[in-house]
Amino acid sequence: MRKKIIAGNWKMNKTPKQAVEFVNELKEKIAGADADIVVCPTFVCLPAVVEAVKGSNIKVGAQNIHWADNGAFTGEISGEMLKEVGVDYVIIGHSERRQYFGETDETVNNRLKAALKYELSPIVCVGELLSEREVGITNQVLETQTVGALKDIPAEDVKELVIAYEPVWAIGTGKTASSDDANDACKFIRSVVEKLYNKEVAEAVRIQYGGSVKPSNAKELFTTSDIDGGLVGGASLKADDFTGIVKYNG
Ligand code: PGA
Repeated sequence: MRKKIIAGNWKMNKTPKQAVEFVNELKEKIAGADADIVVCPTFVCLPAVVEAVKGSNIKVGAQNIHWADNGAFTGEISGEMLKEVGVDYVIIGHSERRQYFGETDETVNNRLKAALKYELSPIVCVGELLSEREVGITNQVLETQTVGALKDIPAEDVKELVIAYEPVWAIGTGKTASSDDANDACKFIRSVVEKLYNKEVAEAVRIQYGGSVKPSNAKELFTTSDIDGGLVGGASLKADDFTGIVKYNG
């Protein structure tokens, strides 16, 4: 049985002070929850949030990582820096990075290698645009992105990986993919992993759904065969909503 993993992607929200207040509230509410729980604040909030979650069941993730160890890469953050601060997870290839910051399957693959090098658990995002879904090439897009992300990544690392299936048209729009469509896409991604590696690896990799997850739809999504939790944006910014999602089983 794959353990569910529910991660909050805060994007460019919350100052360090607001972030600490938030996790202090959250950790009381979600104590004892039966899933891996991750919050992903901005870089400047990471040290304070890592400190604030100590002793709780909340882990901390970054929203990006650069592939180089250090050097002349203005504005970027390395795996070594994240590791030293006490981060456990890192989101890679979010569609906002792909859309607005020129992220490609190749840079996603490079960032994934850096995360693994520094023993950070990667959450690798894939997902189709509305225009791609409308012309029926969703699976093609998901396959290309998954194959590109996993290039030269050994099987034992892929087993530990989290992939987030996030249809771009469902992110921040209030439009959720139906649980059947979301599950079909996650199942398809798992079949791509099986083709690249083997059944054991495919059965081990955890695949989240992301895109307008809320307390009211979390249970339907997370109790399907192939969805192993969620990557949550907007609803992760409110303690009660995120708690409702984490405790989707009541
Ligand atoms: P959303 O964002 O839950 O606000 O749709 C999800 C994401 O971008 O990870």
